[in-house]
Amino acid sequence: MYNSKIIGLGKYLPDHVVTNDDLAKIMDTNDEWIQERTGIKERRWIEEGSEDTSAVMGAKAARIAIERSGLTNDDIDFIVFATLSPDYYFPGCGVQIQDMLDMPTVGALDVRNQCSGFVYAISVADQFIKTGMYKNILVIGAEYHSNGLDKTTRGRGVTVIFGDGAGACVLSRSEDNEKGILSTHLHSEGKYADKLIVKSPSIAHWVPEIMENEGDVSYFPYMDGQFVFKNAVVRFSEVIMEGLKANNLEKDDIDMLIPHQANLRIAQFIQKKFGMSDDKVYNNIMRYGNTTAASVIIALTEAWEEGKINSDDIVVLAAFGSGFTWASAIIRW
Ligand code: UT7
Repeated sequence: MYNSKIIGLGKYLPDHVVTNDDLAKIMDTNDEWIQERTGIKERRWIEEGSEDTSAVMGAKAARIAIERSGLTNDDIDFIVFATLSPDYYFPGCGVQIQDMLDMPTVGALDVRNQCSGFVYAISVADQFIKTGMYKNILVIGAEYHSNGLDKTTRGRGVTVIFGDGAGACVLSRSEDNEKGILSTHLHSEGKYADKLIVKSPSIAHWVPEIMENEGDVSYFPYMDGQFVFKNAVVRFSEVIMEGLKANNLEKDDIDMLIPHQANLRIAQFIQKKFGMSDDKVYNNIMRYGNTTAASVIIALTEAWEEGKINSDDIVVLAAFGSGFTWASAIIRW
């Protein structure tokens, strides 16, 4: 059996910075509340008139990841694209990437697992490589939230959290069985689907029906924040421990934890519970907010760019979000 290894990383964030004070101008919120409850200081939102979308940002991040991998677009055998904010209802963003990067007619798969999307996506790619089916897979997480948020006080519980951005990596076959993705662990609990949801438009509740009812805002994200928070802290810990145990590792063996950037308080809770020092947990939610399926790969890319990930390090990716879904990946770098 082969092993898979990340050989190139890239990220793309739109230039337009939206501070907490900017949001306070359009809704009843304030910098103190946002920072205290979430740790977020600012986020990036695509500016009106920009060409950026989830697929476009994903392509920008992917180009960087491919270049850094030393491969060319022609070397990529398959694409896995994770997002909850696709450009179209269908087809998914994966095929747009194939076209935008002018790749040969490789297969493209879209993953719909929200905040856990990137970790699910890397798990899928890892299986394709481990079985020998593919050699080089482009794995992307990208989100364009800002155009779909309720930018009035009614939506403040969710809107202040979400940001736009993209990250990508090239996962490649490796002959070294000691390094690369050691294992991935995936879970879901669909009974809580409605705790964090964009309910429509859905085939069962299509656009004309929504338009008929002025009070119907089921096309905006809804979140039961406290319920999600309580589940997140439990599931994050569980799925990290599950991954460590599967590899005979201990909490102290983690060199870098890259948690999904949902809320700085969640990451700090996990850090404290695991007794980890600040330099072993990477957070950038302060600057980018929660970019859901893009957050883990943006954070991993930045941690690597800043020289915080070294050869042989045990790197743990972990995520929890809508579905509920949660997942971890244990990597020896
Ligand atoms: O990425 C997927 C996974 N997502 C998560 O894991 C997120 C988990 N949840 C959270 O991070 C937190 O629950 C939030 C940050 C979303 C909210 O924080 P909270 O401490 O749970 O606040 P809350 O929703 O209980 O609201 C507390 C108060 C309410 O006012 P009252 O009813 O006490 O008068 C809200 O209306 O804060 C109010 N509030 C706000 N005030 C100012 C809610 N949003 C805002 C806001 N600015 N943006």
